Amino acid sequence: MSDSKPQVNPPLWLLAELTYRCPLQCPYCSNPIDFAKQEKELTTEQWIEVFRQARELGSVQLGFSGGEPLVRKDLPELIKAAHDMGFYTNLITSGIGLTEKKLTAFSEAGLDHIQISFQASDETLNSALAGSQKAFQQKLEMAKAVKAQGYPMVLNFVLHRHNIDQIDRIIELCIELEADDVELATCQFYGWAHLNREGLLPTREQIARAEATVQVYRERMAASGNLANLLFVTPDYYEERPKGCMGGWGAIFLSVTPEGDALPCHSARQLPVKFPSVLEHDLKHIWYESFGFNRYRGYDWMPEPCRSCPEKEQDYGGCRCQAYMLTGNADNADPVCSKSPHHGKILAAREEANCTTMQIDQLTFRNRANSQLIFKV
Ligand code: FES
Repeated sequence: MSDSKPQVNPPLWLLAELTYRCPLQCPYCSNPIDFAKQEKELTTEQWIEVFRQARELGSVQLGFSGGEPLVRKDLPELIKAAHDMGFYTNLITSGIGLTEKKLTAFSEAGLDHIQISFQASDETLNSALAGSQKAFQQKLEMAKAVKAQGYPMVLNFVLHRHNIDQIDRIIELCIELEADDVELATCQFYGWAHLNREGLLPTREQIARAEATVQVYRERMAASGNLANLLFVTPDYYEERPKGCMGGWGAIFLSVTPEGDALPCHSARQLPVKFPSVLEHDLKHIWYESFGFNRYRGYDWMPEPCRSCPEKEQDYGGCRCQAYMLTGNADNADPVCSKSPHHGKILAAREEANCTTMQIDQLTFRNRANSQLIFKV
C-alpha cells in the first residue's frame, strides 16, 4: 500500500516546555542530556503567539512542562492567555516552588489540572533521587493544597529498580493524598534515563510483583467504591511489540522546546533531522509542510520488517527516538519489536538488569554541571 500523501489531522496536544531550569536533579529525566546548550527561552509574547497559532490549527489541550515550569514568573499570564483562548490547561510540575498563593493565582488564571510528580513514598529515598533534602515535605504540602483548592490532581511516580518494590506504600500515599488519578509509570529510557539505564531498569520479576500489587489495589478500591484511577505503565523493554509512539509521528502531538524548536515528540531533537523553529516559521507551515514533521508520517519511509508488517498501522514501527538511540538509525524498526533484527539489544538490557549492582549514588544526576561536562559546553 502506498500513501505518498497521508492524511494529516490537527495537533490536538500542545506541550509547552517552558524552560530547562529545574531545582531537582532526577537521574531519569527525559530532558535532553545537552540541555545546558540551550540558554535562551521564548518570551511571554512569543509563547502566547505559539498558543494562538496552535489553537487556530485546532489544538485543544495544552501542557505546561519543563524543566520546572514554576520557575517562569510569567506562568499565570501564560495560563490566562491559554485559558482565554479555550485551551484545557495542565500544569506538569515537581511541586517545588509552588505556594498556596500561586495555586490561587493559577486558579484565577483558569488552570484546569495539575500533575505533581514524586520520586518515592518516603523522604529518604525521595531526597536521594531528587537530589534535594526538602523536596518530599514540600510535595506533600502542595499535593494537599492542590486538593484543598479543588483542582483535579494527578500524582505521578516514575518507577525504576530503586523504588518499584515500594509500590504498595506509593499507592497508600496516593490514597492518603486523595489523588484523582495515579500514574505509576515505569521509567522509559530517553534523555538522562537512557544514560542511566543500567542503574534504573527493573528486573522482570520486579515488574511482575508490582503489577500484581497494583491489581490487588484496583480490586480493593473498586470494592470500596473509592477508586483513584490507577494507571500502571510497563517499560518498553519488557514488551515484544513496540508502542505506537505519540499516537504516530506528527499525528496529534506537537512539542515546543524552551528556545522554540517545534518537535513531534519531546525527544526528537537528538535525531539527525532538521526541525523548524517557531521563531522562523508559523505553526501551520511547521505542522503541515515542514520536512521534520513529514519525515516519518505515513508508511512509505519504512524499511523491512515494518514495511510488510500487518501491525504497522497500530504501532507505526514503534518509536523513532528509541530506534535511533539503540541502532544509530531512526528509520529502523524499534528494537523493542521481537521482529527487529536489533531486538538482541533489548534482550541484553534485560540481562543486564538481572546482574547489575549499580546503586543510586552511582547514577549521573540531571544537572547543568553534568550536562556541561558530558558535552563540554
Ligand atoms: Fe520520539 Fe518516540 S519519543 S518518536
